[in-house]
Amino acid sequence: MSKLLCCALLFLDISIKWTTQEIFPPKYLHYDPETSRQLMCDKCPPGTYLKQHCTARRKTVCAPCPDNYYTNTWHTSDECLYCTTACKELQYVKQECNRTHNRVCECEEGRYLEVEFCLKHRSCPPGFGVLQVGTPERNTVCKRCPDGFFSNETSAKAPCRKHTNCSAFGLLLTQRGNATHDNICSGNSDMPRRCGIDVTLCEEAFFRFAVPTKFTPNWLSVLVDNLPGTKVNAESVERIKRRHSSQEQTFQLLKLWKHQNKDQDLVKKIIQDIDLCENSVQRHLGHMNLTFEQLCSLMESLPGKKVTTEDIEQTTKACTSGEQILKLLSLWRVKNGDQDTLKGLMHALKHLKMYHFPKTVSQSLRKTIRFLHSFTMYRLYQKLFLEMIGNQVQSVKISCL
Ligand SMILES: *[C@@H]1O[C@H](CO)[C@@H](O)[C@H](O)[C@H]1NC(C)=O
Ligand SMILES: *[C@@H]1O[C@H](CO)[C@@H](O)[C@H](O)[C@H]1NC(C)=O
Ligand SMILES: *[C@@H]1O[C@H](CO)[C@@H](O)[C@H](O)[C@H]1NC(C)=O
Ligand SMILES: *[C@@H]1O[C@H](CO)[C@@H](O)[C@H](O)[C@H]1NC(C)=O
Ligand SMILES: *[C@@H]1O[C@H](CO)[C@@H](O)[C@H](O)[C@H]1NC(C)=O
Repeated sequence: MSKLLCCALLFLDISIKWTTQEIFPPKYLHYDPETSRQLMCDKCPPGTYLKQHCTARRKTVCAPCPDNYYTNTWHTSDECLYCTTACKELQYVKQECNRTHNRVCECEEGRYLEVEFCLKHRSCPPGFGVLQVGTPERNTVCKRCPDGFFSNETSAKAPCRKHTNCSAFGLLLTQRGNATHDNICSGNSDMPRRCGIDVTLCEEAFFRFAVPTKFTPNWLSVLVDNLPGTKVNAESVERIKRRHSSQEQTFQLLKLWKHQNKDQDLVKKIIQDIDLCENSVQRHLGHMNLTFEQLCSLMESLPGKKVTTEDIEQTTKACTSGEQILKLLSLWRVKNGDQDTLKGLMHALKHLKMYHFPKTVSQSLRKTIRFLHSFTMYRLYQKLFLEMIGNQVQSVKISCL
């Protein structure tokens, strides 16, 4: 580039800056009769009015606005504006008038301004939920509840809510919900407890031991054939296969087998040991009484797919305070395709500091993980596994490794 062009561009740049930059304080042109010249006078700032134009010898004179008057820009007016006298009916004074701001009126809570009137926010009827809550300027926006959601009330606040997931709480769906009604669940004789923790932490730790690292296509049938006692019938196996992912299939099968054989000595022994383990977990976690927000934080800190607030709400209703964490962890596990809950928890613990989480709870969770991962427990899982499954299946497991 030539030197000349360079200079020309530099000049252009400067001149553009000069013309576009605001001059401060802002000026106006004023014809001065004394000198017969056009003068550049300063404008008056907000909160004042123009008392005298500038002259060749003196700057502009601005004076403060009187009470109940205001100006809110740099201007050249010799009067201030009168503040809006009073608010309308059903409005309140949001901001009082002062020299630089007009009085601001706003509709009362629950109303919005439509032309001149403060009208009531619309309420969404059953079958519709609130998409956007109304503001002092805007009416409520309603939306028809989509599939899987419902609203059974007329409300200006409530959004559509998710249908209760009956199976997740160990209950049967007896009446399917629609846009205006929730699902209706009823007790399930297989799982009498309403909280319905499907697979407990202890069972998971133990069952996980029985799950092969690689699945052969007929793994479940091999397991069924080799478990002692009353066999799980083919229909149940098919149902489990249809409903669950591969790892969960093993969990569900073992659970059902345990349930069907609970009178056998071997199974009694296994159940006893699992109960001992669960008592220990209860000792660590059972006394905890977390608030809804704390439960939400804990669930938020787990990796992968999140348990929804609706699930957490249901859990706090269906489960005792001691069971809530365990139930939510089991919901998380299922939601995340049978991730190892303890690994998920370890991940969560690293992130919980961020949420100002109670230290005692983190410590209890840490102790629980340590306990379930301890060598003693590992020996127990091994013993139970060998007791439960004959040599044949063990060899399948080994050949799969
Ligand atoms: C005038 O009111 C406005 C808004 O309420 C406020 O930001 C401002 O500080 C007030 N000015 C004076 C001088 O009180
Ligand atoms: C709306 O549904 C919820 C959840 O099923 C229930 O607890 C509540 O009583 C229902 N309210 C009305 C007005 O039917
Ligand atoms: C209900 O919960 C079960 C188990 O937790 C889950 O597999 C299923 O996808 C859930 N159904 C809905 C509609 O969310
Ligand atoms: C929704 O279900 C309720 C009860 O289950 C029923 O009374 C109502 O008619 C249903 N509404 C629609 C639109 O299907
Ligand atoms: C848990 O805490 C709540 C509020 O902090 C209290 O109302 C409730 O009684 C407590 N429950 C238990 C079992 O301690």
